[in-house]
Amino acid sequence: MISTIKRKLVGRSIGDIIALFWTNLSYLLKYYTPSNIRARRRDKKFDARFGTHTSGSVEFANLDVPEEKIRTGVRYQPTGNGVLDEFFERIDLPIEDYTFIDFGSGKGRVLLFASNWAFKEIIGVEISHMLHDIAAENIRIYKNPDQKCFNIRSECIDVCDFNPPQTPLICYFYNPFYEEVFRKVIEKIQKTYNENKRPIWVFYNDPTNKHVFHESEKWSVIFETPDIGIYKISES
Ligand SMILES: C[S@@+](CC[C@H](N)C(=O)[O-])C[C@H]1O[C@@H](n2cnc3c(N)ncnc32)[C@H](O)[C@@H]1O
Repeated sequence: MISTIKRKLVGRSIGDIIALFWTNLSYLLKYYTPSNIRARRRDKKFDARFGTHTSGSVEFANLDVPEEKIRTGVRYQPTGNGVLDEFFERIDLPIEDYTFIDFGSGKGRVLLFASNWAFKEIIGVEISHMLHDIAAENIRIYKNPDQKCFNIRSECIDVCDFNPPQTPLICYFYNPFYEEVFRKVIEKIQKTYNENKRPIWVFYNDPTNKHVFHESEKWSVIFETPDIGIYKISES
């Protein structure tokens, strides 16, 4: 416990510590709302049905992540059942041409959800070897009659070092890292767009850093609530 707190606080400024405190407090408040308690029960049912292991949360400081990265990432916590439907019911895309990428994919729950849509390819990007190994095993054992995409993989790499493929993209984020890393990833997505112009969408669950899109002329806000945001790179 003490060593976890130490790992979380090392190298942070007072401002960072206050931001961390608020992030954790808001996480705790959301964690115990009746709807989230119900969602966690549904999550356990998902694992019980498919024999997967995607439930539970793990503090980022307790993961096998390099010391210097500890203050950049948010805990593992899986996306709830039905969340992806909330995005897909708002847009209509030729999904077969698209790659779906989960930036900070953890145990791979969202990769499995996404495979119910007929994507060209589904990729998870996860920094922790421990979580990546669990995701790879989940992908291997997942058998669902509704599954339409079988081209799925988890890559164990820092999102900052990941290069997206040259296809149209749906980039999914479930509040996975703090602003510094988020900005780097969004800049990288803009760069890949400038090199090869194609449709690029962001599905943002718990959009803590949505101001990054508001501030930039490069992105259009397609849909936004306090819980989810859909953004599209502007054609230029
Ligand atoms: C809130 S969890 C989301 C898990 C998954 N996307 C889901 O929705 O079920 C955030 C994940 O991002 C990962 N993460 C944080 N920083 C990362 C980085 N720099 N590169 C890759 N993954 C990272 C964490 O290890 C964690 O598994």
